[in-house]
Amino acid sequence: MRKNRFVLPSLFLLLISACLNQPDILTGSVRDKNGPVEGAVVRIQASEISTITDKDGNFAFSGLSPKKPSKLTAWSSGYYIAGGEETYLPGETEIVLELKEHIDTDYQGYEWLSAFSTEGKQNNCQNCHSREDDPLSHLPFDEWMLDAHSQSTRNVRFLTMYQGTDIHGNQSPPTRKGYNNDYGSFPLPPDLSQPYFGPGYKIDFPDTAGNCSACHAPMQAISAPYGTDPSSLAEGTEGISCDFCHKIWAVNLNPDGLPSPNMPGVLSYQFRRPGGEHQLFMGPLDDVAPGEDTFSPLQNQSEFCAPCHTAVFWDTPIYNSFGEWLESPYSDPVSGKTCQDCHMPTGLTDHFALIAEGGLDRGPETIFSHLMPGASNEELLRNSVSMLVETREERGEANLKVTITNDQTGHHVPTDNPLRHMILVITAESEEGVPLELIKGAVIPDWGGIGDLEDGRYGGQPGMIYAKVLQEYWTEITPSGSYWNPTRIVSDNRIAAFDSDTTEYMFIVPDEGKYKINVKLIFRRAFIDLMEQKGWDMPDIMMAEENIILE
Ligand code: HEC
Ligand code: HEC
Ligand code: HEC
Ligand code: HEC
Ligand code: HEC
Repeated sequence: MRKNRFVLPSLFLLLISACLNQPDILTGSVRDKNGPVEGAVVRIQASEISTITDKDGNFAFSGLSPKKPSKLTAWSSGYYIAGGEETYLPGETEIVLELKEHIDTDYQGYEWLSAFSTEGKQNNCQNCHSREDDPLSHLPFDEWMLDAHSQSTRNVRFLTMYQGTDIHGNQSPPTRKGYNNDYGSFPLPPDLSQPYFGPGYKIDFPDTAGNCSACHAPMQAISAPYGTDPSSLAEGTEGISCDFCHKIWAVNLNPDGLPSPNMPGVLSYQFRRPGGEHQLFMGPLDDVAPGEDTFSPLQNQSEFCAPCHTAVFWDTPIYNSFGEWLESPYSDPVSGKTCQDCHMPTGLTDHFALIAEGGLDRGPETIFSHLMPGASNEELLRNSVSMLVETREERGEANLKVTITNDQTGHHVPTDNPLRHMILVITAESEEGVPLELIKGAVIPDWGGIGDLEDGRYGGQPGMIYAKVLQEYWTEITPSGSYWNPTRIVSDNRIAAFDSDTTEYMFIVPDEGKYKINVKLIFRRAFIDLMEQKGWDMPDIMMAEENIILE
């Protein structure tokens, strides 16, 4: 905002700089209702040029291109981003930017804004952050629609695991209970002579809703984190939506840097939901104005993701991509990488709001993608580990050494949900297709699938499974994805960031002719028998493959 009373001195300075032939400065001050604000960030909007106000709230830019008009913005913590309206030419010296405080409390009665355009409403994100005519424009709404977060309340794998059903809605019988004088009642394994459609929270705990919604349906669970049954949500309920992530103000973490074990998802976040007529969006940029936005440094820190990507159930760490990241060299603030660096990379577009709605042309390196690729993304999985295969033949024996290095992933591979596993499958056969005899080396356990190799049932085949294997205390079911029951970790051979794992195999070579060895590294989303019980159809993803012909 420019004040008229400053026109005179400003003209005087302009005259001086014009005489020196250097009208390349912009100076002014940042204030709030009480006076000057020290330490505010002032920026030439949509550029990399910024400065900080001094103790009197003053700022100065110099060396600007003469005649090039610019808009200025100012931000300080606790205020909306100011400015962005008037245009200044180098030479202006009495610019005043006025900061307005935003709320500092969370209004629990706030009604979330929907991401989707709704008749009669103006605030829906899709109105300005989407280009329907060009879904590849990489605007946030269109990307989010392709991201698992937007589908979290509708994910059929989540819902069928919650309900103990298959995808057709058939439900497994309620879990049978045993009784013991010391422990009281405890669950028994399912009776497999009856139709069985896999495990489920609801068949084990029919009377409670569980904590699942605290992360999977956080907007609904915010007022009842342990009392929101995800299967009771109306059709079309939004998953983890725009307004939720952009209302996050702070994360509660313990001194060890992790969220409290019994406070998953919404329970470890602080929000700033406004009660009055004004809105408030937290974003990664400090120069978005005019509008009701503020900058939040948390937006590009891994801690932002922590409460939903870390969880302990019955003292057993289940989800832990954040904890694994924290333990890894990637958490180094200087040389590391954040979750966002890998899962929300920049550079795909030069604007993030429709230009007609006030979107600016910005440096693509300042705009983050919302695609958030994960376990269904082939490109990400093919670029997460590297596989080195070495062979050596000696005295009629072929030695094979396979080293897998986690050289591109910021946490263990695989991570988070313990259904995930990585299978190393080795096939060694003669020219005629006769399998070579394995005389040394591991074989894939039965839970890799018993049956036809063609159907991905690799149990008994030379190779390995990399996974965190859980066993249920009472039923001893192993591996288990029913971590809502008490479980223990029986083994965990997943590969941590920058670690590698080497396994060796020895085969008897055929007397004559060539033979071939095929090494595959496969990402499997869930145990094959569970997928069959549930009717999930999630094809394996090939992470790496090598073919070797020897003679
Ligand atoms: C899971 C949380 C999450 C969801 C859901 C989400 N965002 Fe974001 N968004 C972020 C984070 C984190 C950043 C900043 C990334 C960074 O700084 O590294 C961001 C950045 C932005 C920005 C700044 C420009 C840019 O793209 O970098 C806009 C605008 C934005 N989001 C709008 C939206 C809209 C609109 C939606 C819904 C269609 C949405 N976001 C959904 C977390 C989320
Ligand atoms: C701390 C937050 C949190 C809680 C609590 C939580 N989840 Fe999850 N869940 C996640 C995250 C994050 C993912 C995605 C991680 C991944 O893809 O590995 C996920 C993934 C899943 C998946 C895999 C979905 C797929 O498409 O393969 C299932 C199934 C699932 N959760 C079930 C549950 C159930 C049932 C509960 C409650 C008993 C629950 N979750 C509680 C955060 C949580
Ligand atoms: C009327 C149009 C409009 C609507 C509706 C709208 N936005 Fe925006 N939003 C904008 C514009 C314009 C910008 C700034 C663009 C720029 O500076 O390049 C912006 C910027 C943002 C930012 C960046 C803030 C920062 O400081 O980094 C976030 C986050 C954001 N919007 C989230 C949302 C969310 C969430 C919704 C839906 C609940 C939404 N917006 C709805 C127009 C809109
Ligand atoms: C150096 C890059 C990098 C960083 C940093 C990184 N990731 Fe990942 N992430 C990957 C790659 C590559 C994969 C695919 C391999 C895998 O599933 O482990 C992945 C997979 C995932 C998955 C999918 C898991 C599944 O099976 O569905 C989740 C969830 C995830 N990351 C969350 C996070 C979180 C949260 C952080 C920060 C605490 C983070 N990532 C940091 C690269 C990274
Ligand atoms: C409110 C809780 C919540 C927040 C906040 C959150 N996530 Fe997630 N995230 C989830 C859940 C739940 C899923 C599983 C959704 C599903 O598959 O149905 C998930 C899935 C993912 C996936 C796997 C996507 C896929 O296609 O398989 C990645 C990667 C991921 N999150 C990364 C992040 C990163 C990075 C951040 C922080 C910028 C973040 N998440 C913030 C809850 C959250």
